[in-house]
Amino acid sequence: MTAPTEQVRRRALSLPFEELPAYLYDVDALRTHAAAVRSALPERAELYYAAKANPEPEILAALAPYVDGYEVSSGGELAHVAKAVPGSALAFGGPGKTPAEITAALELGVARFHVESVYELRMLAELTARVAPASRPGVLLRFNLPLADASLRGSQLAMGGRPTPFGLDPAEADTVVRLLTDGTYPQLELLGVHAHLASGLDAAELLASAEAVVAWSLGLAERHGVRFREVNVGGGMDVDYARPEERFDWAAYGAGLSRLLDRHPELTLRIEPGRALTAYCGWYATEVLDVKPSHGEEFAVVRGGTHHLRTPATKGHDQPCTVLRSDRPWPHPWPRSAATGERVTFAGQLCTPKDVLSRGVPAAGLRAGDRVAFALAGAYAWNISHHDFLMHPRPTFHFLRAEGHGAEA
Ligand SMILES: Cc1ncc(COP(=O)(O)O)c(C=O)c1O
Repeated sequence: MTAPTEQVRRRALSLPFEELPAYLYDVDALRTHAAAVRSALPERAELYYAAKANPEPEILAALAPYVDGYEVSSGGELAHVAKAVPGSALAFGGPGKTPAEITAALELGVARFHVESVYELRMLAELTARVAPASRPGVLLRFNLPLADASLRGSQLAMGGRPTPFGLDPAEADTVVRLLTDGTYPQLELLGVHAHLASGLDAAELLASAEAVVAWSLGLAERHGVRFREVNVGGGMDVDYARPEERFDWAAYGAGLSRLLDRHPELTLRIEPGRALTAYCGWYATEVLDVKPSHGEEFAVVRGGTHHLRTPATKGHDQPCTVLRSDRPWPHPWPRSAATGERVTFAGQLCTPKDVLSRGVPAAGLRAGDRVAFALAGAYAWNISHHDFLMHPRPTFHFLRAEGHGAEA
């Protein structure tokens, strides 16, 4: 469903022009979705939210009752998430961690580090001894694993199975496990393996990937005569922007993880989705400024654009959207521009042909002053956008909850 929820639709239509564009988040819908995801997962599967998808404090807080923790991938995210949801379990991942970031994580008492290289392991070990000698942080070794069944082929954002800067090369596995088990670094506790290999996979592909990661990890542990207590199989659950009614099959995924856990009763599995948790709860609402013909097509220029909602530009899709007709009287002395055909392309205000939000949208009769709500804008949207290009004003932000559940932020 891409049509805005009732509270989002009402707000999108009632906001004054000066407050548009606006990011409208339906916090109740987010909670309902997160609760459904949690209940589809087996008990021994932990759910961490990858904060990079949308780190708005209200989103982080709304997810808190349903997640076991948060995955952070920079010192900035670490400080931000620790402040927004104090006391939550954090896992610190991401390539290129600096000594200052690792120090900050140790000082905050972060319990899990996703270690991305041998160099980083050595740095973490030295800094732990110096900064937090009384602690023994947990390590999950992030590996870039090749998956024999080519289940990553469909992914636009594959991070594993080919040369990338992410994680350790499997050829380094024995060396790195030895460093953590032969007494070289007793200040670190080897908990297991982390593998986020791709984004945009369906339940069957992700399950195949999880099974392969677990089998490989347990084989590694066995070779070294140790036990891995945890395997983090990452995020990457698909959000289909072209067919938004097709949702990731959490029930099938949960059932598959359950079967996997039944075969490994001493293992905790962890997943860390971002996009598929928050994408559906956000809309980017704006107003049509002008409608005009161009070489046989019609363009509707909206206030704002891809400097606020970069997702369609980065992923190359048309952002699903709903036209909201405005019944307000036209306030200007000049005539209103209007579409003459059946379809328009929604473009933003930037001076680049790349500033297109959605092509060929059925919108007969669309007029300047009508409003549009772009759906699936709750993940990798505002926070990945190039806000300052052309110095247009920033959107406003609204976190909508039903009456009685707290006011709008
Ligand atoms: C290490 C790691 N974990 C989790 C995620 C979340 O992925 P997604 O938003 O596709 O679920 C990402 C995304 O890049 C990531 O790099």
